[in-house]
Amino acid sequence: MNAQAGTKSHADSGHTGPALLEVRDFQVELITDAGIVRAVDSVNFSIHRGETVTIIGESGSGKSTTAMGVLRLLPDDLAVLSGTVLIDGVDVVAVPKAIDKVRGRTVALIPQDPMTALSPVHSIGSQLSEAIRIAGAASKEKDAVRARAIRLLEQVHIPTPEVQLKKYPHQLSGGMLQRVLIAIALASEPQLLVADEPTSALDVTVQAGILDLLLELQEQRGIGILMITHDLGVARLISDRIHVMKDGSFVESGDVQQVVEQPATEYTRNLLAAVPVLGPWDETPTVNTDPKSTASNTTAAGDAALTSTGVQND
Ligand SMILES: Nc1ncnc2c1ncn2[C@@H]1O[C@H](COP(=O)(O)OP(=O)(O)OP(=O)(O)O)[C@@H](O)[C@H]1O
Ligand SMILES: [Mg+2]
Repeated sequence: MNAQAGTKSHADSGHTGPALLEVRDFQVELITDAGIVRAVDSVNFSIHRGETVTIIGESGSGKSTTAMGVLRLLPDDLAVLSGTVLIDGVDVVAVPKAIDKVRGRTVALIPQDPMTALSPVHSIGSQLSEAIRIAGAASKEKDAVRARAIRLLEQVHIPTPEVQLKKYPHQLSGGMLQRVLIAIALASEPQLLVADEPTSALDVTVQAGILDLLLELQEQRGIGILMITHDLGVARLISDRIHVMKDGSFVESGDVQQVVEQPATEYTRNLLAAVPVLGPWDETPTVNTDPKSTASNTTAAGDAALTSTGVQND
């Protein structure tokens, strides 16, 4: 299913096999000039194949620190990790070097800002080719790498890939660049994608297209996704489970429907109330608690824009 059809289906119970990501009692302490900040305080979550698990919370709640900590992308001398992070069964907290075996292979990151994540002085083709060579999944022979680069751009629905390969980042729109970043992340054929606010730099219609793409990739390949967002509209569209983060801890966790329909905390209710609602709605200022209504409404607007403008224009 994709975002165009509404929210995700939630047939995620009854997992077999080990989790792609298992995080237990995970803490991150940041060493700052002002002292030690416990940015992540004993969080627990897991992601299986085909699942999207979302961490949502206000700015500064520790979402990015959780994601970057799990991937060991925080500098060792500034961030002290403890607890257990099993990526495909490998504990990257206990054995720091183990991350080199899984990052860019089992797990890949989709960075937040497409405008700054790519090098401005290298073509899309050369940056994608480098990712393909590093991933080592295919032959390093030039024609094979080029063919794979074209295939990856096709997979993320970038039109005329041969033409786009020659372009530089400033020649592409934000939405197209975000697709390139997803193609780069896919180069290693990861089983798990970590996406830190992958659509927050994009406008709403482009955002809908990117979310559709992620859901489509998930359906085709069964990848797991760790999604970081401060946007409950995004979270309710694509998640199987949501963890609501505040001051480094999860204040509420559960099935997306449960969290949206019956938020247990005032904090989550405030996040819900902050979701903008599109379309002709009743003027009475009530909090909308039906996950499907806002979700389908948001995508309906996104679909209309995508159909009328085409993906090329995002
Ligand atoms: N380099 C740093 N030095 C000092 N404190 C930091 C640093 N990076 C993060 N923090 C602190 O760690 C906490 C968590 O920050 P983090 O960036 O993980 O939040 P976030 O939930 O991702 O926020 P946002 O929605 O704004 O991206 C905050 O209290 C922040 O002030
Ligand atoms: Mg962040």
